[in-house]
Amino acid sequence: MKPSLIILAAACVMLAGCNAAPAQGELNDPRVEKLMKKMTLDEKIGQLVLFTSDWSVTGPTMRQGYIDDIRSGRCGNIFNAYTADYTRKLQEIAVNETRLGIPLLFGYDVIHGFRTIFPINLGMSASWDEQEIEEAARIAAVEATAAGLHWTYSPMCDICVEPRWGRISEGAGEDPFLGSMVAAAMTRGYQGNDLSDPATLLACVKHFAAYGAPQGGRDYNTVDMSERWLREFYLPPYKAAVDAGALSVMASFNELDGVPATANSFLLQDVLRNEWGFKGFVVSDYTGINEMVNHGFAADVEDAGRLAINAGLDMDMQGASYFTYLKDLVKSGKVSKRTLDTAVRRVLNVKAALGLFDDPYKYCSPEREASQTLTGENKAFARKLAADCMVLLTNDGILPLRRGEKIAVIGALADSKDDLLGSWRGAGEEKSVPASILEAIREANGSSNVIYAEGCKEAGNDRSGFSKAIAAANSASKVVLVIGEDCQWTGEAASRSDIRIPGVQSELLQKLAATGKPVVVVLLNGRPLDLSEEVQYAGAMLEAWFPGTMGGYAVADVLFGDVNPGGKLSVTFPRNLGQVPIYHYAKNTGRPFLDPDAKYQSRYLDVPNEPLFAFGHGLSYTSFDYSELELSADSFGGYESITADVTLTNTGERAGSETVQLYIRDLVGSVTRPVKQLKGFTKVYLGPGESRKIRFTIDKSLLEFYRQDMSWGAETGDFKLFIGGSSDKVREASFRYEE
Ligand code: NOJ
Repeated sequence: MKPSLIILAAACVMLAGCNAAPAQGELNDPRVEKLMKKMTLDEKIGQLVLFTSDWSVTGPTMRQGYIDDIRSGRCGNIFNAYTADYTRKLQEIAVNETRLGIPLLFGYDVIHGFRTIFPINLGMSASWDEQEIEEAARIAAVEATAAGLHWTYSPMCDICVEPRWGRISEGAGEDPFLGSMVAAAMTRGYQGNDLSDPATLLACVKHFAAYGAPQGGRDYNTVDMSERWLREFYLPPYKAAVDAGALSVMASFNELDGVPATANSFLLQDVLRNEWGFKGFVVSDYTGINEMVNHGFAADVEDAGRLAINAGLDMDMQGASYFTYLKDLVKSGKVSKRTLDTAVRRVLNVKAALGLFDDPYKYCSPEREASQTLTGENKAFARKLAADCMVLLTNDGILPLRRGEKIAVIGALADSKDDLLGSWRGAGEEKSVPASILEAIREANGSSNVIYAEGCKEAGNDRSGFSKAIAAANSASKVVLVIGEDCQWTGEAASRSDIRIPGVQSELLQKLAATGKPVVVVLLNGRPLDLSEEVQYAGAMLEAWFPGTMGGYAVADVLFGDVNPGGKLSVTFPRNLGQVPIYHYAKNTGRPFLDPDAKYQSRYLDVPNEPLFAFGHGLSYTSFDYSELELSADSFGGYESITADVTLTNTGERAGSETVQLYIRDLVGSVTRPVKQLKGFTKVYLGPGESRKIRFTIDKSLLEFYRQDMSWGAETGDFKLFIGGSSDKVREASFRYEE
């Protein structure tokens, strides 16, 4: 992809929600310069090498070869090693046994919690709650740093409209505006205000860029799109995290416009450094450099290393390309000394910012590890957050359940503690999960009022448990059926070509519904599923995602109405796979589907165009009424603004939260614009009968986009504005903007 026409000054304000000036100050620690003068070529290259630790039943271990590499100064960074004691041991080798005593950097995938596990990220984003998401990241940072870690490979900022892709579970869904909020909140939560504070964790913005758009939804597959779409739709969350101060970025596995991100200077230099002012370092993904040989972009691993470092890729994760070949590449002049030194300075400066040159052991604290991990407070917060992330998809009135009713709890996932944690659970352990959903329901409802049957497994076609499950349903007044995906069916390398609930779980639902007993379906899953079948048989459907350590209790809290659900989907749920990609940020097309009797329109013959559950959808146990929308004026110009007001009333009998969403449509543009673009939201808590006026301010910044010449700005014209509790249920008004 060629550098665009955009000039640098304009580039800083190009992305929605981004600040004009890069938030990152210069990283220029004087100790780094002193060190650089003393370092040999091998020692410099060592700072660009990242090797993994291993884990055995007896705890963390390290291959002897890697220990030797640390000792010789040829490996300066380690990932997957944790516990305060173990990281201290490794750090002692680096500090005491190498010539220059440069401390190691310890990285780890702290994705949605470290020991206390929060809901998977797709679930977290459904809370639409900036403070809670930031707090989850802060707690994760406290727990992880207490175990000796400095660096997390998070936030994952990959926008995704591809439910087949297993890693959709790790991101914040399909919307660039919401995704940017989540990316910034997580970065702030990890890094705090002072990276050298031993309770803060270096964030890593990944996977840069557009890893969430693999063709066919198959992990690691080719990505290709226009530069306009890349900038408009995919880049904003990465940019938001960089603006929030993230000091490391991970290059993605995929190619973009034919160039693997690992050696893509358009991404790593032009966009990241020149436009966004990023000052930290870039790490490859796991063996990402070597994989450029398979991509057909490099002849061999040596050449891959040359291409990567010359494109701005500073650190090699696990591939040993830099470790093996960089010395020769520098000696032969294929990589300049300046390029090498620049990469080394970036890594050392981040180590300095973490405070490792002041005290290399400041993160290894057995006391903190013992006292600040899995605390009662952390678990209470995890329980609240898990409940706040749940999305009530449907409810015919069966929910909330009344305590004391006889309930049959059925389903492959009902009594699983392991699945609650999701596929990427940091250092979270099943033994830390206090209750499965079944156990939590028993506690809430009294064991004698709960009967359990597994019914079937989450995959396979064994129906032998059906009869017991049907008998259980017949003996109860209501059924809670917990179904979905095995947690390992989402995450990395877990793409699916079918997004229906696997196995015979749906068939079991149908059999249970045939008993005449009302059935509540609780879903554990990490992607938008095709729920068209299930929706016909379930009295209510609660999307619980993989809700984390306290997920069992959180599900019970919602089922019994102790918590009124307020989550809203951050991703569209299609009617079937044939509709994919389907997302709210869609264009109108030249032939929008308006007339059911006309043929040549943009539509399917066999399903409606609308998804099963729209972006922003989520019900509550109470009801909310939106008044008509009032604009303070029907036009504005230049840097003026207008306000859009709506009065929200809780018309039900319970307190509850509503996420009020603002969308805008630019009716005519120099390039086509989406029919609804999320531009703001606010989460409001109202008691029964309570009303509140909600106000959004509309100014030029909300109307800007990449115009036809790729300049960033607004255009004179007519706009529509929509406010509502879901992208498909909105009030609407019109206004005009004059430049
Ligand atoms: C590969 C994954 O793509 C990335 O997200 C992760 O951070 C690294 N492996 C390290 O585990």
